[in-house]
Amino acid sequence: MENLFSINKLSLWYGDNQALKEISMNIKQNNVTAFIGPSGCGKSTFLRCLNRMNDLIDSCHVEGEILFQGKNIYGQSTDVVELRTKVGMVFQSPNPFPMSIFDNVAYGLRCQGLKDKKILNHVVEESLKKAALWDEVHDRLNSSGLSLSGGQQQRLCIARAIALQPDVILMDEPTSALDPIATAKIEELIQELKGDYTIIIVTHSMQQAARISDTTAFFLLGDLIEMGDTTQVFHTPKDKRTEDYITGRFG
Ligand SMILES: Nc1ncnc2c1ncn2[C@@H]1O[C@H](COP(=O)(O)OP(=O)(O)OP(=O)(O)O)[C@@H](O)[C@H]1O
Ligand SMILES: [Mg+2]
Repeated sequence: MENLFSINKLSLWYGDNQALKEISMNIKQNNVTAFIGPSGCGKSTFLRCLNRMNDLIDSCHVEGEILFQGKNIYGQSTDVVELRTKVGMVFQSPNPFPMSIFDNVAYGLRCQGLKDKKILNHVVEESLKKAALWDEVHDRLNSSGLSLSGGQQQRLCIARAIALQPDVILMDEPTSALDPIATAKIEELIQELKGDYTIIIVTHSMQQAARISDTTAFFLLGDLIEMGDTTQVFHTPKDKRTEDYITGRFG
């Protein structure tokens, strides 16, 4: 399997505070990669580096290299808007826009200048189907996105990301605001999506990482401690600190 991202000695500072310390890793295509580790260890920070969302934070300074499809995304020629189209993101609490279900999914395409109603209808339907939401909303596409349940809202946000035909979907604790049934639905969806997309997910739930990911990376205080096949990391961790964490001895 090919590497979609190759990260080489990536360090990040917020002002004087170093949040990531020379992280190197490869992320495989059409794989689910999970980032785990105690609160404040840099998981979200690292995830945001992958589509340059940290650019929006003034105090933030990055060194090192992230190759995405072979090209350094921190290079000068990178079109950040295009990068964020290819590397979509879903956040911790569902954040639909205050507009209809249809308009939520069509939003990104309209921003790109697409007006053709037929194409928009088609993409919205396909995206909602891929996000396993179509059956629940097809008869009320004009209702507000905010009228959906939390779990449905999160699937709507996934549909919104899918509509732009990304290569990667970054998910930062996408189920932490959801009940167990809605969580199970999203987990099932992630399994289906990995045929078409590369998924990178931050999770506080080690059970979730074990259930849905192929590869797991364990972070601690800004360091990448260990990364490998999920089964290996959970059953035969190489580092004592990984073992302590997954057996619940800290964090
Ligand atoms: N916008 C910011 N400005 C300054 N410091 C920040 C900012 N965001 C994060 N940090 C700091 O960077 C470090 C890593 O934070 P990050 O949010 O990446 O951790 P995390 O592993 O995602 O934690 P959690 O599991 O609680 O979400 C922490 O020390 C945090 O305080
Ligand atoms: Mg976080």
